[in-house]
Amino acid sequence: MLLGKKFIVTIGLLSSVIFISTTAMKQGADEVKTFKNLKVLPKNISEKQLDAVMDSWKLSLGVQCGFCHSRNEETKKMDWALDGKPEKEMARQMYRMTTNINKKYFKAGKDSIGMIMEMGVNCNMCHKGGAHPEVKAPEPMRRGLRPQGPPAAQQPATPPAQ
Ligand code: HEC
Ligand code: HEC
Repeated sequence: MLLGKKFIVTIGLLSSVIFISTTAMKQGADEVKTFKNLKVLPKNISEKQLDAVMDSWKLSLGVQCGFCHSRNEETKKMDWALDGKPEKEMARQMYRMTTNINKKYFKAGKDSIGMIMEMGVNCNMCHKGGAHPEVKAPEPMRRGLRPQGPPAAQQPATPPAQ
């Protein structure tokens, strides 16, 4: 009776070990693809995760992949690793900026592959589906109205420069 129970427990453990190792292999397969020219995204990013990042950039800016990527003129095929357009480098700069803001001002932590989480800002927050977010004054100021606040005379004078 006792032996029988132990046997069942062992079989149970064994099958879960097999289950875990096949799942690990499947995850491993997802990681196999290595990208050639990553300078800001983690090198261990999986294909699925990279696709998700690219889709979110594409949608945030309201563009197609070719807005940042270019094709190899010899093969006439898209070469994702190529740095052929200034927009791609600009996107890297934007990613660095966004990451630094989240890390420094929103104390954002890292996710499982070491990417800083989008705690405070992300691409869509400024881009809102467009490639060129504008620097605009608030609406009342644009209509030529004075902002709310004390009249100029009551505002503290700027101290003279030392
Ligand atoms: C806003 C610009 C932008 C858009 C839009 C964009 N990408 Fe990217 N993509 C980049 C940047 C920047 C990198 C490099 C990231 C780095 O340096 O870590 C990159 C890297 C990649 C890579 C890795 C290439 C390698 O081997 O180094 C692939 C694949 C890729 N993008 C596919 C796509 C696809 C597919 C789309 C459309 C769904 C897309 N990208 C849309 C900017 C963009
Ligand atoms: C704090 C606001 C802000 C955030 C966050 C932001 N951007 Fe931008 N982005 C701008 C501004 C402003 C411009 C300049 C627009 C222009 O030149 O007309 C710009 C320009 C760009 C351009 C160049 C467009 C062109 O035609 O040259 C790319 C590419 C870009 N951003 C990608 C991104 C990506 C990808 C992210 C997220 C990782 C991001 N941005 C996050 C404000 C932001």
